[in-house]
Amino acid sequence: MTHHQTAPLSTQVTIMGAGPAGLMLSHLLAQAGIESIVLEIRSHQQIAETVRAGILEHETVNLLVDSGVSDRVLREGDRHDGIELRYNGESHRIDFQTLVGESVWLYPQTDVFLDLAARREADGGDVRYSVSETEVDDVLGRPRVRFTDASGQRFEITSDFLVGADGSRSQCRRLVPEAERTQYFHEYPFAWFGILAEAPRSSDELIYANSEHGFALISQRTETVQRMYFQCDPTEDASTWSDEQIWEQFRLRVNGNGFAVKEGPVIEKMVLPFRSFVQAPMRYGNMFLAGDSAHTVPPTGAKGLNLAVQDVKVLFEALDAHYSSGTSALLDGYSERALDRVWKAQHFSYWMTSMLHQLPGASEFERARQLGELNSVVSSRHGSAYLAEAYTGWPARG
Ligand code: DHB
Repeated sequence: MTHHQTAPLSTQVTIMGAGPAGLMLSHLLAQAGIESIVLEIRSHQQIAETVRAGILEHETVNLLVDSGVSDRVLREGDRHDGIELRYNGESHRIDFQTLVGESVWLYPQTDVFLDLAARREADGGDVRYSVSETEVDDVLGRPRVRFTDASGQRFEITSDFLVGADGSRSQCRRLVPEAERTQYFHEYPFAWFGILAEAPRSSDELIYANSEHGFALISQRTETVQRMYFQCDPTEDASTWSDEQIWEQFRLRVNGNGFAVKEGPVIEKMVLPFRSFVQAPMRYGNMFLAGDSAHTVPPTGAKGLNLAVQDVKVLFEALDAHYSSGTSALLDGYSERALDRVWKAQHFSYWMTSMLHQLPGASEFERARQLGELNSVVSSRHGSAYLAEAYTGWPARG
């Protein structure tokens, strides 16, 4: 029985995690003639069924299209040239095109995953789903990863580099000794209640609503299915909420002055985790962290996937330079370069969150100050332009 033996494998880059970060990196490396193996503990189906955010920065879209992953985002995604900030019963449009000449695309992360997974498969990429018992050694030298595949066979991969793109519960992140890293945390005293509902679109663009009853976000998925969220207590149990109770929250927070959210059967409901986290540096020896393994942002502003893709773009350039010209300068600069954008996104997500949510027990001063903040954003080109630039994505740093 060969099942008791560990089969040796070798490659240039071992990638832990087949989410958008891991698959995008594997795809870019393959385009440059660099071999990788991607390991994923979840099944393809589990990833495809996970509901995640839906907004892509223009740079994320460009990378998907220009690197040949798929142009489906351009055909089936919706370009959005602005958002609405709604408070005191009025909507204020932030016009991205006028302010910064850019747009975002509404295209769910699930579809990004499906496009990447299909492209890797069509190109003969080595992506192994449903692996288990993953063990990592020697990240300071030649990293080795042992794992059991879906059929029960045990393998050991030896590679030049290991990339931890293994998400917010990252195994790779934990390999960095405490003395070698800093972890930054921020907790919020609320969370998001997210739903999918069978209903027509309520609006052409996304509505971010600040109300005295708490935040709400009206997003979309298709002509007939919509995605919406409202601020809730982090200990809320979504399964105990009736459709009527859910719609009551949206009516309280968003409706008014002739506007009403379009309602329908709620087909999915969940409470989303809500925190800010960074582990720095994003490198330890020959291991590099990318995406949620190194950082989590609160969902307000939809930066998570876009940051992961940006990490991968920077890391790919560094690995490509290493293999094509033997220089390690870009690998040495990876963490600093990636973290520059990570902290901008951390600030933006925190700022949008604090501007739009109600803190339990906030003072009257705090509430009035928050409305002053919203007024200074929507009434000023300079105020709105910061939001527009951050939301659509900062220009890549040279
Ligand atoms: C969505 C999620 C977000 O966090 C956001 O800011 C905008 C849109 C979404 O799931 O559609």
